[in-house]
Amino acid sequence: MLNIAVFASGRGSNFESLYRTILKENISARIVVVISNNSQSGALSLARSFSIPALHISRRQFESDEAFNGKILETLRAYNVTLIVLAGYMKKVSAAIIREFRNRIINIHPALLPKFGGEGMYGIHVHKAVIQAKEKFSGATVHVVDEVYDHGKVLLQDILAVDDDETPESLAAKVLNIEHRILPEAVKLIADGKL
Ligand code: GRF
Repeated sequence: MLNIAVFASGRGSNFESLYRTILKENISARIVVVISNNSQSGALSLARSFSIPALHISRRQFESDEAFNGKILETLRAYNVTLIVLAGYMKKVSAAIIREFRNRIINIHPALLPKFGGEGMYGIHVHKAVIQAKEKFSGATVHVVDEVYDHGKVLLQDILAVDDDETPESLAAKVLNIEHRILPEAVKLIADGKL
């Protein structure tokens, strides 16, 4: 049984999709805690509505990076977390956390990595760049998180065609549907020991 910590900064639709798919498909995993740097995030209110511990932990609450990262690690240990899922988490995960959870942190990215990844490539900026580059295809990627942004081993991807009249908003909506499918799919494969 995987004990999952979800890190999310925004509305939490990937978190919700993961939560619901775990229940529907009886995946051998449970979300034991949701951590957000944003006290007003939809992800935290969704967690509360699912009676999942919802923790606002932000660097601003601490005197130093060490204290902040220590609090995150202490929380992960307290909940016996065995997999961290970044679902729209806008902060860099510290090297200390990556070391302790080597190959046990995954992220969902709204493009076909290694293209359109890295610093600044998040949210609508990704889809604007894909359209500007006149890409014929886009999609989403679940990858392992390591010390370099959007760089770790790709676990799952799915692809879609970019229409001629595609807008960043229409592409974001189509890619989000892929995200909501492949993130739970990756968790299921990990829970079944296949990834
Ligand atoms: C998603 O587009 C995801 O790819 C990116 O951040 C967004 C999170 O959306 N990492 P949500 O908060 O899960 O709705």
